[in-house]
Amino acid sequence: MTATGSDTRVALVTGGGGGIGSAVARRLADEGAAVAVVDRDDAAEAVAGRIRDAGGRAEAFLCDVSAESDVAALVEKVSGRLGAITDLCCVAGSIRRGTVPDLSLADWHRSFADNVDSVFLMCRAVLPLMERAGRGRIVTVASGWGLRAGEKAAAYCTAKAGVVMLTQAMALDHSPAGIRVNCVAPGDTRTPMLAREARQLGQSDTEFLAEAADRPLGRIGTPEDIAAAVAFLAGPDADFVTGAVLTVDGGGSV
Ligand SMILES: NC(=O)c1ccc[n+]([C@@H]2O[C@H](COP(=O)([O-])OP(=O)(O)OC[C@H]3O[C@@H](n4cnc5c(N)ncnc54)[C@H](O)[C@@H]3O)[C@@H](O)[C@H]2O)c1
Repeated sequence: MTATGSDTRVALVTGGGGGIGSAVARRLADEGAAVAVVDRDDAAEAVAGRIRDAGGRAEAFLCDVSAESDVAALVEKVSGRLGAITDLCCVAGSIRRGTVPDLSLADWHRSFADNVDSVFLMCRAVLPLMERAGRGRIVTVASGWGLRAGEKAAAYCTAKAGVVMLTQAMALDHSPAGIRVNCVAPGDTRTPMLAREARQLGQSDTEFLAEAADRPLGRIGTPEDIAAAVAFLAGPDADFVTGAVLTVDGGGSV
């Protein structure tokens, strides 16, 4: 694929092979963006393929976004192949359920690497390019559990609180340069992550999903519910929005 003109929207979506990330990638492609679908899992290739089959523009990039050298190379590759990155959506993340005594130091570090280092490294690589361009949109994906603690998820809650604060710190620092930085905080959303959590807690999928649906709107979220919020924050209707944390959880935190 050739590089694009300066007015083209180029969205880089981390975790693009996963449940929410793939919905974000499809949604932004539907809105006309050329999408870099980034994941350490090769599911990213299938997501990019589906977007192309539907007439959109997308390329898959295999990358561990918690690894400093991989991220630098990734940003160079994406800019070269698709054009200057205008939208960065940091969706990649992982969960290891457990109380503090349940968790190894390696679990703790993995949680910070996948959820927080990934956002720091991606933003550190992309912000100078956006500053040079005088515009850019960054949307991070934290969790309702980054705002209010949940049971048996000590590392995840702490890491996601870090994502919320990192988002707001970057909004303060970089909005004057024309870069808006916002966060979506999803509640339980039907993706492979939920099935992994059920297994980690020794619960059946059915039992876990029934508990997760116990919220004012009476269902769990879909990846498309979350993608719509990301698209809003990245889009022109949110031109006066920066440093915001948009909770999308069917009223679960009310
Ligand atoms: N599903 C939920 O209920 C829920 C709720 C709140 C927040 N979230 C957050 O939403 C985001 C997406 O989660 P999901 O539910 O789609 O889960 P998912 O497991 O389907 O997708 C996560 C994707 O991120 C990728 N990833 C993780 N670490 C990575 C790394 N270091 N480098 C590259 N890729 C990496 C995984 O390979 C996976 O494809 C995560 O940040 C998650 O914490 C999910």
